[in-house]
Amino acid sequence: MKVDNFRLQLGNKEYIPIVIGGMGVNISTTELALAAEKLGGIGHISDAEVCYVCDQLFKTSYTSRKRKKYSYNAGNPDKSEEYFDLEEVAEAQKKYVEHTISQKSGNGAIFMNCMEKLTMRNSSDTLQVRLAAAMDAGIDGLTLAAGLNLRTLDLIKDHERFHDVKIGIIISSLRALTIFMKRAVKLERIPDYIIVEGPLAGGHLGFGPDDWKTHELHAIVNEVHKFLKTQNLNIPVIPAGGIFTGTDAVNFLKAGASAVQVATRFTITKESGLPDKVKQHYLNAEHEDIVVNTVSPTGYPMRMLRNSPVLNYTIKPNCEGLGYLLDNKGKCGYIESYYKALESSQKGQRMKITDQTCLCTGMARYDCWTCGDTTYRLKETTNRMSDGSWQLPSAEDIFRDYRFSEDNHIQKPPHKEKVKS
Ligand SMILES: Cc1cc2nc3c(=O)[nH]c(=O)nc-3n(C[C@H](O)[C@H](O)[C@H](O)COP(=O)(O)O)c2cc1C
Repeated sequence: MKVDNFRLQLGNKEYIPIVIGGMGVNISTTELALAAEKLGGIGHISDAEVCYVCDQLFKTSYTSRKRKKYSYNAGNPDKSEEYFDLEEVAEAQKKYVEHTISQKSGNGAIFMNCMEKLTMRNSSDTLQVRLAAAMDAGIDGLTLAAGLNLRTLDLIKDHERFHDVKIGIIISSLRALTIFMKRAVKLERIPDYIIVEGPLAGGHLGFGPDDWKTHELHAIVNEVHKFLKTQNLNIPVIPAGGIFTGTDAVNFLKAGASAVQVATRFTITKESGLPDKVKQHYLNAEHEDIVVNTVSPTGYPMRMLRNSPVLNYTIKPNCEGLGYLLDNKGKCGYIESYYKALESSQKGQRMKITDQTCLCTGMARYDCWTCGDTTYRLKETTNRMSDGSWQLPSAEDIFRDYRFSEDNHIQKPPHKEKVKS
């Protein structure tokens, strides 16, 4: 049995049951999302640091304008004056979504991953603007991630697309789901799909820094299925985290899942936004190189390669231009750690910051090599070339392998040596 024997039904549309998860900042690019869409699946773009992403893609200057506006405050640990311009956030979000949606060519869909923990100095207003602008620009679905908030549906309940856009949530426990559902039922807007993300996923984890090891995806998915049954709710459940082969996916689909969400296998594709030399680090990683740490100022544990440059950062906080993790009081854990370290270094010690990192800068510069637990297995999925480097597969290669493979077989792409220039 293979993934292709199953279909995901969302409303009146049918999809290949493969969802490529959102990977910020611009790791799940427009091109990667479109590859899934073209093949009849679902691809995500992510709105993490969307103004900065637009600057890179369209040569806009949101970041430099914001940096200039607040440059007077760069030496001040108090960032409470540094707001995003909501009109610019909306403009950037629209630009990015329209750019992606206008290139759709298949029967699949493009969803947007919106991390609610991206508090952007004003969590409600910036989230509201991001969600509304994505809907205005024609996004097919909104996946509410990291930091899921009870009030989120209220933020968009008056939008004309509230009932037509697909709305999904990412949860890592039944408890998170039941809390969200209370408000959703009151608003008569239950989610269209539920992504259950287990402890082996990439990015931020919805578990404690130690207890992630004690959880298991199949068990959480079963709990969610049971709960939905007792509530008479028929909502597609989509497991995520550690699903590495088509057979892993089939095991979930046979047990009642409607689709799977996958990401790690796509990080090394040609379409992924990671720089090619970082993709080689992912491919060369061994299991002991993959760590879960607590350096993210969001407060969530995060999985990454232990040689990620972001783990050695001692840079000055970059909030004037970026500032995506400033909370509603203008604070971020890294600012505090930075100024503490600066104080001790002035007493003759070398500056070292180990408890927090400047994640905004790290993600923007592709210095935070966040990855799923199965990253060490990526070398099973492609060919080594004569110069010792790894061939980068296309997103289609990986998508097709998930869709058609059986018996845990992994189909590598046809071997192609680099063309010497
Ligand atoms: C490099 C990378 C970046 C990620 N970034 C995000 C993100 O920005 N937001 C989010 O909700 N999930 C993020 N994730 C989680 C994925 O969307 C997905 O649910 C999960 O990684 C699937 O498990 P797998 O990587 O084992 O296939 C990220 C995953 C990876 C590998």
